[in-house]
Amino acid sequence: MEEEMAEQETILIVDDEESSRQLIKRKRLSEGYRCREAGGAAQALDELQTGAVGLVLLDIKMPGKSGIQLLPEIKAGYPDTVVVMATAITDTSTAVHCMRQGAYDYVTKPFNLAEVALSVERALEKRRLELENRDYQQHLEERVSEQAEKIRQSFLNSMTALAYALEAKDKYTSGHSERVAATSAAIATELGLPQEDIEKVRLAGQIHDIGKIGVRESVLNKPGRLTDEEFQHIKCHCELGERIIIPIVEDREILLMVRHHHERYDGAGYPDGLTGAKMPLSASILAVAEGYAEMVHGEAESGAPLWNRGARILAVSDTYDAMTSERPYRKAMSAETACAEIERGKGTQFDPEVADAFLRMRKRVSAAD
Ligand SMILES: [Fe+2]
Repeated sequence: MEEEMAEQETILIVDDEESSRQLIKRKRLSEGYRCREAGGAAQALDELQTGAVGLVLLDIKMPGKSGIQLLPEIKAGYPDTVVVMATAITDTSTAVHCMRQGAYDYVTKPFNLAEVALSVERALEKRRLELENRDYQQHLEERVSEQAEKIRQSFLNSMTALAYALEAKDKYTSGHSERVAATSAAIATELGLPQEDIEKVRLAGQIHDIGKIGVRESVLNKPGRLTDEEFQHIKCHCELGERIIIPIVEDREILLMVRHHHERYDGAGYPDGLTGAKMPLSASILAVAEGYAEMVHGEAESGAPLWNRGARILAVSDTYDAMTSERPYRKAMSAETACAEIERGKGTQFDPEVADAFLRMRKRVSAAD
């Protein structure tokens, strides 16, 4: 194995003296390296271009461009090639200077072939280890990112499974979650949120009503107005949603978006009656368990946290979709009427900034239709 590797290595001897090149070439060939030679800098660069050269034995003193001048060019153009300098015994300080410039070693002239052989062997071994190490690192990164992608995909699959579970139970939900997810992502984009946050908002949209799994079917599918008791019962779906997804959704922002998607800007929403005017304190399970309320409160200086903006985005897209969907007890509203309702709810039901972003986005969509 070792020998096979050594056989594949190519050495380039750069020396203006034919006799020096021949000496090394004979020795090298007998050791099983592939050997190429160049009588000057220009030829050396040509040789380097034709294929992977593992090592350059570079004479320092050459007419025209010297080895010292050529060295940085080789290091810049062929960083994986190791360079061993060849120098007169009287000029070792130049050789040391070259090592600072990236040469691996130097050998003195006239050549002591045993010394040359040892230096070349060590230089190629160092190169081999470096390449192996880099290869390992690259594959490691690939494997890690493949693994991360698998985990992400499996997480998204669980979300989809939950959404399907709800659709099986609640016939009005069919398509609703998908539309709320898409509209919410579009609003987040319109608000200029970073891509990562847009994806969180989209995901929260997909599962925002998941708590309805715990709501009685007779209430969910009731073809008429709800009684007070029924309405109280259906309101539970926010807290229930948070509880259902806690074991699989690590992201706090998404959990809180789900919990708070029925809050109103004026504080008349549920489950916690958060208001838009002052920084909200979430009373979610998460907040209580982890002291998250304080953390959120601490963020007040830097504006609304993502979960809060996200919840307000969901509130707009959820309400819009509900208004434009057919229900047994009422017909679907037209897009224009529903938009007028969103406009009317600005500053009371809805965060004005979010509502405006939604209306701008709608206007663009309908202009394009
Ligand atoms: Fe809901």
